[in-house]
Amino acid sequence: MKKLIVGTSWKMRKTVEEGIKWLDTLSEYLKNKKEIADNIEIFLIPSFLSIYPFIEKIKENNLNIGIGAQNCCWEDEGAFTGELSPMHLKACGAKYVELGHAERIEIFYEDYEMIKKKVTAVKRNDLEIILCIGEKEKNDEENVKYNIFKNQIMAILGHFTHEDLAKVIIAYEPVWAIGKDTSAPMEYIDNSMACIRDVLNKNFGFSCGDMQRIIYGGSVFPETAKQLLSLKNNTGIFVGRGALNVNYFIQMVNLAFEVSETK
Ligand code: PGA
Repeated sequence: MKKLIVGTSWKMRKTVEEGIKWLDTLSEYLKNKKEIADNIEIFLIPSFLSIYPFIEKIKENNLNIGIGAQNCCWEDEGAFTGELSPMHLKACGAKYVELGHAERIEIFYEDYEMIKKKVTAVKRNDLEIILCIGEKEKNDEENVKYNIFKNQIMAILGHFTHEDLAKVIIAYEPVWAIGKDTSAPMEYIDNSMACIRDVLNKNFGFSCGDMQRIIYGGSVFPETAKQLLSLKNNTGIFVGRGALNVNYFIQMVNLAFEVSETK
């Protein structure tokens, strides 16, 4: 089993000053907790403005935390007003780029073709991809879900090899469970993740689906984090609103550490 992962994306929330305060509290907490840093993959995806100061702070404090961006351009450089270069992200020490989030698709009209170009650019720049996938509506029929995941994965990652998948974290985010009071039901999530692993095994071979890092996102809060992290097919949690309070994030990191000892 891969290390458990605890990550957060703040979307368009927190000023640089607010973000640094949050990070300082987390850093202070993790400073003498080497066993947590060694066993849990922690990532933070703040607003674009906070990426660089966060990376500097993490270097200064010698912490094992990866910083990511919420989006990037499919080109490395040039006349693309308002865009963020994956090459520049790499140069400043970022580790991840989140792509394919439902809000990018619904509000900013990104389609799979564009997301495919972006994952290619992220891979070219040797950054890791956090690729969000998920069905729009709740669906209990396994074969329907399988086909939805297969279509999404093959449209975006169909040109990747099983080796390339090592640089990908799949964030399973059922669109209907984002921004709600609680996550999707546990059994439903585990079943969806099994489907995703199946899609990967059948289409990329080498049992890569069994090894794939797959995390759950969509209304994750400390109350359900332990149950989510304990699911057989899950390797982590991707937290939105539930991590805006740093103490909740610390609580979830601790829960992941607890679960990782038994998983
Ligand atoms: P939420 O966001 O936890 O605030 O629902 C999750 C997400 O969009 O990844």
